[in-house]
Amino acid sequence: MLDGKRILLVVTGGIAAYKCLEVIRRVRERGGHVRCILTRGGAQFVTPLALGALSEDWVFQDLFSLTDEQEIGHIRLSREADVVLVAPASANVLAKMASGQADDLATTALLATDKPVVVAPAMNPAMWEHPATKANMAVLEERGVHRIGPAEGAMAESGEWGMGRMAEPDAIVAALEGLLGGAQAGLLKDRRALVTSGPTHEAIDPVRFLANRSSGKQGHAVAAALARLGATTTLVSGPTHQPEPAGVNVVHVETAREMLDACLGALPVDVAVMAAAVADWRPADAARAKLKKPAKGGKSAPPSLKLVENPDILATVSGRNEGRPHLVIGFAAETDAVVENAVAKRRAKGCDWLVANDVSAAVGTFGGDDNQVHLITADGVEEWPKVSKLAVAERLAQRIAETLKTA
Ligand code: CTP
Repeated sequence: MLDGKRILLVVTGGIAAYKCLEVIRRVRERGGHVRCILTRGGAQFVTPLALGALSEDWVFQDLFSLTDEQEIGHIRLSREADVVLVAPASANVLAKMASGQADDLATTALLATDKPVVVAPAMNPAMWEHPATKANMAVLEERGVHRIGPAEGAMAESGEWGMGRMAEPDAIVAALEGLLGGAQAGLLKDRRALVTSGPTHEAIDPVRFLANRSSGKQGHAVAAALARLGATTTLVSGPTHQPEPAGVNVVHVETAREMLDACLGALPVDVAVMAAAVADWRPADAARAKLKKPAKGGKSAPPSLKLVENPDILATVSGRNEGRPHLVIGFAAETDAVVENAVAKRRAKGCDWLVANDVSAAVGTFGGDDNQVHLITADGVEEWPKVSKLAVAERLAQRIAETLKTA
């Protein structure tokens, strides 16, 4: 699945560096080619000889190496790859990438590349949780850097437990496959997709509205993943701060009713993925002027809101006799009895698949970067590992492509 793909692997300092040997092996098994840059920190944990033997290529270490520069040059090194993978990515390299430093070969290549970059962070949980690392990672993701992991587990060096273990080689390779697509880039060519994302805003008066905590990250990632596989994709988005995904036709809406209209306008499609957190209710009559408190000294009860139900977009699209998409997929936001509720919801909504996630505050799904989901289909329930929302989107897009292949 990585046939002919060239991966530039940047190995930075961390005990997890040993796992990158396995990453090289698996990429090569899948027909890909790996060329390595090893930082000084990385060389404390894994040798150039091991990387070179497994990759069967030169291992680059020194920015000012005359022989390396004459052979290939650091700019070409970063451009000749199809993707740059930093694994393990230390807190230090994330900080340097975020601030644009280029003081060694690895950071120079990362600054010079025009190719997608994937980082697999690995560090002590306290370092991962530090506001500085969080801010650096947020900046990088905002700029389009893809992240895989870290995962939760025991730390090798301290016996501590927490978030900071590098993602497993299989997950890293799957992320590369999802990103590069390879022969799959055209898997959804000639297919049309509709995705909803984000919250809806329901006006109370001209300045106030009812909304929810949806960030739009997951829905936008699904639209981007479908477009990468070649689908002609319409994304109907409520108000979010997400950048518009490349190659996607984005329709901006505010309310549930506008979202429904935009969705019906986008039909017919082969697949509809309803990831928006649509407000179930809206104020019955939005006030035309701003609601005011009584004048000073006056007394009155606070206004009470009369709510009416919004249209159910997922159920409407699922229930269409004419022009029903071949595959209709809903998302379920649950705070308890996640699987039971989701199984019932799939039936109630009439959709084909339901992606169920736990949005209880402790899990941090809303606004967070990771998602742990269950895929509910007519055949049963699958538990997917906790990965980034991007990886959930890639996996879902792959499944959609497999299913539509036989449709
Ligand atoms: N949905 C929709 N239109 C609505 C409400 C929900 O299209 N008016 C879709 C969402 O996009 C999602 C699925 O229905 O794909 C489930 O959303 P969720 O909020 O979990 O379910 P609700 O139907 O709102 O049920 P409840 O809040 O009672 O659990």
